[in-house]
Amino acid sequence: MTTRARIAGAGFFVPERVVSNHDLEQLMDTNDEWIRQRSGIEERRYITPGETPADLAQRASQRALAAAGLEPRDVDLIVLATLSSQHEFPGTSFFLQRQLGLDDTPCMDLRAQCTGFLYALTTANAMVRSGQFQRVLAVGCEVHSTGIDLTTEGRDVAVLFGDGAGAVVVEAADAGEAAGILECRLHAQGANAEKLWLEFPSSGHTPVRIDHEAIDQKRHFPRMEGRQVFKHAVTRLPEVLLEALSAASLKLEDVDLFLFHQANLRINEYVANQLGIPPEKCLSNIQRYGNCSAASIPILLAEAWEAGRLTPGTTVAMTAFGSGFSWGSAIARF
Ligand code: UT7
Repeated sequence: MTTRARIAGAGFFVPERVVSNHDLEQLMDTNDEWIRQRSGIEERRYITPGETPADLAQRASQRALAAAGLEPRDVDLIVLATLSSQHEFPGTSFFLQRQLGLDDTPCMDLRAQCTGFLYALTTANAMVRSGQFQRVLAVGCEVHSTGIDLTTEGRDVAVLFGDGAGAVVVEAADAGEAAGILECRLHAQGANAEKLWLEFPSSGHTPVRIDHEAIDQKRHFPRMEGRQVFKHAVTRLPEVLLEALSAASLKLEDVDLFLFHQANLRINEYVANQLGIPPEKCLSNIQRYGNCSAASIPILLAEAWEAGRLTPGTTVAMTAFGSGFSWGSAIARF
């Protein structure tokens, strides 16, 4: 059993097409001020025809591998977190594997919605520490733009989400090395499954997974009880962050950078304020990318990597919440 795994490289990719709040005003009854005030979002990225989730994941993965000085063939497992799978099956990870030019590398999709990347990182960490895999590519990838209701009826959800992908390479740390994934803590509460969900298509719906009635009722678009989700977030984020820090025998002051899931700038500002975290220690990109669900945290991490902010000794706390409900936190040292 390897004592520790570390993050050896990070990369991200977002589509080139920028969709501003003003662009959304053309499609639905919304306005820039409402969106900015409630969420902090100014613009997001959408794919263009022909672009797929696996394309985004491929570019992010190639950048993560390059950052780690590795080639795709050096990876011996791919774990991809998504709530917007390219097809019902096989998972997006299989298309990614093919596009990376790999022909025998095991891969799997993992579904834990906005906490998905932390579930993937936890899985990668455990796989490497078990000794069965040397290098695991952990990816978060979402294409929301093709699955949201871009009319006034869907505006409460639609304005929040964007497309993007982020990836990290997790590998065994050298003996005695200070860098590593120090702690991961995950939680879930299926009792709240319907508070933020996509009901159709459903394999539990007979005789077929979706019918005209469901489509007419727009039940093939995600639905959210925004206030409930907000409450869940502001309670669970601080709780699980403190739990992970305590397990790592660290205090809030020991953390150099906080990477919160980018669901809503107001949620993150509220949590940081409650815990007394200085704003300059909290990274955010929701202004530019919106909520990219499982991709939000690895995109933040990759941006920090590319900006040279993850220098040796830097301690990072990643914390997320989302549909399921799900929530979790991971502490890593670089
Ligand atoms: O990864 C997890 C993802 N989800 C979240 O993190 C969401 C957490 N929840 C939230 O961030 C907030 O609940 C929202 C930002 C989604 C909404 O803020 P809110 O203060 O809870 O607004 P609300 O849903 O109570 O709606 C207030 C008003 C309503 O109008 P009336 O009934 O007061 O006349 C809505 O119809 O705002 C209206 N509204 C909009 N107006 C303009 C809802 N969406 C929009 C919109 N543009 N896009």
